[in-house]
Amino acid sequence: MTSTDIFEIMGTMRAMRRLKPDAVPDALIRKILEAGVAAPNGGNFQTWRFMVVKDPVPKKAVQLLYKRAFDETIGPRYATAAPPPGVSKERYARQHAAVEYLTEHFHEAPVWIVACLIDGATPNRMAGASIYPAVQNMLLATRALGLGSTLTTRHLLFAKEADAALGLPDGVHSYAILPIGYPMGKFGPVGRTALGDVVFSETWGTRYEG
Ligand SMILES: Cc1cc2nc3c(=O)[nH]c(=O)nc-3n(C[C@H](O)[C@H](O)[C@H](O)COP(=O)(O)O)c2cc1C
Repeated sequence: MTSTDIFEIMGTMRAMRRLKPDAVPDALIRKILEAGVAAPNGGNFQTWRFMVVKDPVPKKAVQLLYKRAFDETIGPRYATAAPPPGVSKERYARQHAAVEYLTEHFHEAPVWIVACLIDGATPNRMAGASIYPAVQNMLLATRALGLGSTLTTRHLLFAKEADAALGLPDGVHSYAILPIGYPMGKFGPVGRTALGDVVFSETWGTRYEG
């Protein structure tokens, strides 16, 4: 399930929410982190910080918040929303089931990488642009190594409490948690809408036919 073809990796890097409990070798986590710090970031100031978390105690504390956010906000939304564009009803139902699974088992992923920024007291809209490229690089590296993960941000519905549970100092905020492990399922093509529906040529609304 490993791959070195970047286009295959991008096209098959589904959110892998069902993970085995088997330990992930530190050498692979290091490779993932090295991919992360290769990412572009504002001014190359590298204000990112990454926490590798295996300790079940903070993971469980954050999972409780993650689940609360599901119960109060995300779950009801999923239950009533129509499938996203390019996704069948059946596939959406499978996605919902996987989201629920991860909600219950979030803390059981053998390793988390928590992506943080030293962004001061009042982070602005530009801040995330200096951490999400690193997050995406890490997801791609994870997929390349045959490991599964999902970009998660739901804990941010209780951001203050989650950052405290992770022991982050003042002025440092988490932006994403990547639960990482060997996937139970197989990688497969991602479901997305056709290019022509989301790309315009020259003027807004003119379908791109290139
Ligand atoms: C900003 C962002 C936040 C996300 N947060 C979560 C999350 O908290 N929990 C989760 O299960 N998936 C989360 N996802 C994963 C998306 O649900 C997933 O990328 C999308 O459904 C497409 O799935 P696919 O790549 O398997 O086709 C997030 C994705 C993004 C880009």
